[in-house]
Parts: sequence; C-alpha cells; structure tokens
Amino acid sequence: MTDNFYITTPIYYVNAKPHLGHAYTTIIADVVCRYNTMLGKDAFLLTGTDEHGDKVVRAAEKENLNPKEYADKISRLFRNLWPELNIKYNSFIRTTDPSHIEIVKQVLQKIYDSGDIYFSEYEGLYCFGCERFYTERELVNGKCPDHETEPETIKESNYFFKMSRYQDWLIDHIRRHPDFIRPERYKNEVLSFLKDPLEDLCISRPKTRLEWGISLPFDDKYVTYVWFDALLNYVTALGYPDGEFFKKYWPEAQHIVAKDILKPHGIYWPIILKAAGIPLFKHLNVHGYWNIDQSKMSKSLGNVVEPLSLKNTYGLDAFRYFLVREMVFGLDSGFNEEALVSRINSDLANDIGNLFSRVITMVHKYFGGVIPEINPETEDEMQGGLKFDASAALSEYKKAMESFSFHKALMSVWEFINQMNKYVDTTAPWELAKKKSERKELEFVIYNLLEGLRIVSGLIYPVMPDTAKTMQQHLGQNPESIFYDLNQLKSWKVLKAGTSIPKSVTLFPRIDKKKEEQILTDEIKTERDVLEIKPEITIEVLSKIDLRVATIVKAEKIKGAKKVLKLEIDLGDTRTIVSGIALSYTPEELVGKQVIVVANLKPAKIMGLVSNGMLLAAVDENGCTVATLDKKVKPGTPLT
Ligand code: ME8
Ligand code: MG
Repeated sequence: MTDNFYITTPIYYVNAKPHLGHAYTTIIADVVCRYNTMLGKDAFLLTGTDEHGDKVVRAAEKENLNPKEYADKISRLFRNLWPELNIKYNSFIRTTDPSHIEIVKQVLQKIYDSGDIYFSEYEGLYCFGCERFYTERELVNGKCPDHETEPETIKESNYFFKMSRYQDWLIDHIRRHPDFIRPERYKNEVLSFLKDPLEDLCISRPKTRLEWGISLPFDDKYVTYVWFDALLNYVTALGYPDGEFFKKYWPEAQHIVAKDILKPHGIYWPIILKAAGIPLFKHLNVHGYWNIDQSKMSKSLGNVVEPLSLKNTYGLDAFRYFLVREMVFGLDSGFNEEALVSRINSDLANDIGNLFSRVITMVHKYFGGVIPEINPETEDEMQGGLKFDASAALSEYKKAMESFSFHKALMSVWEFINQMNKYVDTTAPWELAKKKSERKELEFVIYNLLEGLRIVSGLIYPVMPDTAKTMQQHLGQNPESIFYDLNQLKSWKVLKAGTSIPKSVTLFPRIDKKKEEQILTDEIKTERDVLEIKPEITIEVLSKIDLRVATIVKAEKIKGAKKVLKLEIDLGDTRTIVSGIALSYTPEELVGKQVIVVANLKPAKIMGLVSNGMLLAAVDENGCTVATLDKKVKPGTPLT
C-alpha cells in the first residue's frame, strides 16, 4: 500500500446544469478522499467538465452562444457548485484546456503509430446523448436504455480504434483482479458483454459534420471527441507522461462513475491505457441511479432535482448524510423529499443531535462545563464503559468504507450512537448526580460519553465535515488545529480532563412535517386568494390568463399529505399539477374528468413536487367542486 491516493469523478457534460446525480457522485468522491486523508494518505480528488461533441454544440446553438462561450458558462456552474457542497477537489479539468488537448494528440499519435488505429467506412446506430454507437442487442425496444430515444443511423468514413485486439487480454485482467470493477454485479455485466466479439471504437468525426473536438494529429480533416478525448482526462490532469502528479498518483487511481458509463470505463478505458502503454488503474467503482418515479433523474428526461435548493432548505450536512446513507452504493435509489425529512428527524435530530446536546448539557450542569477526570479504579468497576462498543464500531466502519459500502459505514456509527443513548438511559447520570457518594461514577459515565462523541465526530467527518468540527469544538478542541486521524480514533482516553467546553448547540433542528404541510396548504390558499381579488381588470389582463381544458390521466395520493393530490393532466402535452382537492375527491373519481386549468401559472413547489398549473374549483363550506365542461373537447383547447 502506498501513501498516495487518487480518486476521480466523471467529467460532466456541459450540455446541462448540475443536478442531484452529479452532486451524489462528487460528494462520494469527497467522502472517499477525506476518509483516505484520515488514514494518513496524501489524497487527490479530480473532477471537471467534458466539453466537446455534438450535443454541446446543439445546446450552445439553442442559447445563441458559440460552443466555447457556452462551455465556459456551464463549466463555471459545476466549478462553483462543488465548494458550496463542501467538496474539496484538488484539480478541475476541462477538455478544452490546451494542456489536455496537447496530451490527447500525443497519445493518439502514439497509438496510431503502433498500428491500433485504422480508417474505414461504417454504418451504425448512434445515440447522440451517449455519444456512441449502439449494437441492436444493447437497445431496449429499439431505444437507447439511458436516454429513451431512438438512435440515428449514421454512415461515414472514420478512424477506428482496434479494441477487438485487446479483448482476451481484458477478460483475463478482470478475471485475475476480481475487484477491478466493483460492486460485483458490474464486473459480471462487463464480462457478459465481453462474451460477444468486441466491435472497434469509432474515435473520430469528419470536420465537415463536427468541428467541436480535438484535431487528429495524423489527419486534420477529422476531430476526436468525447470518449477518446474524455477518458484521457484522468491522466492528462496529472500531467502525463512526465508530470510530478502523474508520477506520484498514477496508477494508485480509483474512478467513480454511475452505471450509464460502465462500458466506456470498464472496456474502452482499460484498453486505451493498455494500447498507450500506461499501467491500469486500481478500481472502477460503479453506482446506480437516483430515480424519480422509477425513471433516471436526467436533464433529457426533465425530472431533475437541484442540489442547492435542497442544501438551502435542509442544511448541507443533512443533505450529504441523506445521499450517502440512503443509497446502497451500486443499486438504484428513489429520491423523495419525505425520506429526507424523515432521516433528518430520526437519525440526525433525534439520534445524534439529542445525544450530543444531552451530554454537553450534563457537563455544564454537573461539572461547570469542564471535562471531568476519570478514575482508573472506577473503570474496572464499570466494565470498561463504552470503550469496546467504540472499537467494534470503528472496525465495522473501516471495513465498510474500504469496500465502498458507505451506508453500512454510517449504520455502524449509528449503532454506536444508539448504544450511547442506551448507556445514558441505563446509567442515569441524573440519579448519580443526586448522591455525593456516586460522584466518581458520574465522572466516569460523562467522560465515557464525551469520548464516545469524540469517536463519533471523527467517524462522521468524511460525510459531515461541518458537524464534525462543531462537535470537536464542543469537546474542547481548537478549531484551527482539528485534524481527523483514524489512528487517534483507535485510542481511548484522548480528551483532557480539566478542559472547558462551550455550551451545547442544536446540531440538526427537527423539521416539523405538520408545519411543512401547513406552509404548503397556505401556499395553495394564497394562490386561490389571488384569483379571489375583486378589483376591476382590463381585457388585456384577463387575456394574460391561459385557461385550458385538460383531461386528468392519473391521480394519486402523496405520502404524508392529507389535502393535496398529485395529478397528471393531458393538455396536449402531459404535466403534473398538485391540487388541494384531496378532502373532496378520491383519486379514482378524478381520472378521466375534463377540468379547467390555469396553464400559465408560475410553477410552485408543493410537497416536494413541482406543480405546473392550477385546477379551477368552486370552494365553499362543503369543500371543493372542480369546474368541468358541458361536453368533451380536445385536451389543450383554450377557454376564451
Ligand atoms: O457521461 N443518478 O457525463 P454526464 C446517479 N461526460 N448519478 C448520476 C445521475 C443519476 N440519475 N445522473 C448523472 C458523461 N449522474 C461523460 C463522462 S467521463 C470520462 C465522461 C452522474 O454529464 C453519474 O456519475 O452525462 C454519471 O455517471 C454521470 O453523472 C454522467 O454525467
Ligand atoms: Mg449522461
């Protein structure tokens, strides 16, 4: 094992703003990086943006910008988001960086010279979203499984990379390094893919069709773009071939990606490295998708969740905790805000938050805010206190972190937190405090709890760095010199008796679900009130309201909400609206009804869902009655 550690995220396409999926991968990379720092390693985190290719050109055109201006703009959004999420990256690479472009050309030339790149005509099914050709077998109902769009048939002369030549070598490498691709399901997926003959990889585009790429050093009528360009970022960012960073961190490298780009990373990338004579990375770590209503969250499907808005509503550490705790690394996870709220209330406000404030408050109540002394004889009598639980939690945690089972790592911390909470209940310090004769026991119990909090603060550090720091300060550590060291967590009795500590604070405020629902129903009322305002209006004002006929295609209850229903309506296009009619209608009664909606109402967030419009209804003391039409008309028909 070396003391250097290198972790990367995918470099994200600049055709869309960052969303929760990107935030997840990058937060995981940060967690892994911080954890390795705790192990005493010199850890390096690389992230960045992937800026060449057709879809960036298309996205730029939509905004009337040239590709570079557009890439600058979106790349900046990514770069600025990461510090907001407390992600400490060491380098941010852009595929438009001149140094990257130069090295990509060198590698291409090298592989061309060795005979692994050839020129040929090809016709195939191309997905622009993925920027790669698909075989029939990979398509689902004729569509790209990731973008759910039909690929286009493309026929042209291009340069190809002879991947087939390395197929047997790759199979052998994966078999001999069973955790090269992990978790195992993805290794199996790659091996199963490799059972069929591997097609060679098309690495170029004629400039007549696409200019936004890197000119081939051996044919300037062509560019390379996306995969050959993008994958090499992992070494160009380190200054391959001679840079100091490259010598230091490669090949101690680990990549993190989601399953959408398993094939490029599990097949193209190792083969490119092999062909270029560069040693292989250590692990490819593959996670699943964050889904919304069973579909992958993605810009192309239009169902994205914004990380910053969640951070602002719930707090950064709570948001980071939720992502890391909720998703089993490797499997898909459904995102929903209620699960987030419930984790905040139970795991954070209740378990860790209460424990922390109980203990710190007792230090102030019974010891004037000073860490008590521990008496070695009492230690024997009290059977070691929390020492053994702490050490069990630590070894579970370590095992889980090393195998990328982050949810398990957190579960082991929470098991310890629960043991501590039980310890408070069973030792009942408030009873001990009543009798002078039990002073030593009281000191022992409180000291143990403080030590336990110290261990917890260290273990949560990779996931919740701010909270860890607040806890450490409350254990009397100097905020300037706090350093998280896994070895120090192994020792017991580190805290110095006699140190004064600050008064307790609330680590995680509870989120009152009722209050939240109240705010949301108030929101609906205000919308309603807007329409009840009675001053005279002109016809121009009236004509601004886009009233349309819509058919309700689907209606369902929203978990935790009594008053509102989620409706899917057909207005010509389908959209979701959240409507406060749940007390008057069952979902079944609504499906098929033709209703009237305000179609151009500014979208509002209700119960964590974005409502695109509002349904008209009469409201009286008996509840609401939705406005319907006399006869059926085509959905989307305007009302005038
Ligand atoms: O593929 N759930 O960029 P990209 C979880 N430029 N993770 C998600 C996600 C979701 N719903 N959506 C996106 C590219 N991600 C290429 C990569 S690398 C040499 C080139 C995350 O912008 C996840 O990490 O489409 C996924 O692999 C990545 O974003 C895809 O980002
Ligand atoms: Mg993608």
